[in-house]
Amino acid sequence: MTATAADPRLSGRALKRIAFDEETIAAKVAKMGAEITAAYPDGDLLVLGLLKGSFIFLSDLVRQIVRPLQVDFLVASSYGDATVSSGTVRLLYDPETTLEGKHIILVEDIVDSGRTLNRLMALLEDRHPRSLEICALLHKRIATELARDTKFVGFDAPHEFLVGYGLDHAENFRHLPYIASLQ
Ligand code: IMP
Ligand code: MG
Repeated sequence: MTATAADPRLSGRALKRIAFDEETIAAKVAKMGAEITAAYPDGDLLVLGLLKGSFIFLSDLVRQIVRPLQVDFLVASSYGDATVSSGTVRLLYDPETTLEGKHIILVEDIVDSGRTLNRLMALLEDRHPRSLEICALLHKRIATELARDTKFVGFDAPHEFLVGYGLDHAENFRHLPYIASLQ
């Protein structure tokens, strides 16, 4: 379905524009899955989704990765006031799976300031994975503090507030099958 002001999912809220439609997202996710399949010829692979934003992207992505893998999730406490950097992150849900010795891909919906990732990566490194990489569907390319490269990136994101395909505004609009900016 195309998004219009009449999309019943929107509860009357108007979209500014559709940034990425369903077909564009599906083609990109298939490409990223193939890229990940090729990048890990051996070893145990654990795909770790950062909740909640990554849930739709992760579920589509893992079905495009053609090799054995395991899936788990992380729930990190939000850092509250974005202008304050405390340097620590608290996990509200910690993966049950062992991380030691595994290739880990941390899956994020969108990289904005990069603060969330910086904190999580340090915490995950302490668990001695065989390798640790970031996979983000969207990247705003404004993160100046990002401690490491995002190895797998879907799209450069416009500098607008985006919703849909997992991304929320006050917990709404995660279920939109496309990614749009709000009016
Ligand atoms: P960062 O720590 O500043 O990089 O923020 C990343 C997190 O902020 C993402 O996982 C999202 O949950 C949220 N976020 C950043 N930009 C957007 C956006 O445009 N729409 C919805 N959520 C966003
Ligand atoms: Mg969020």
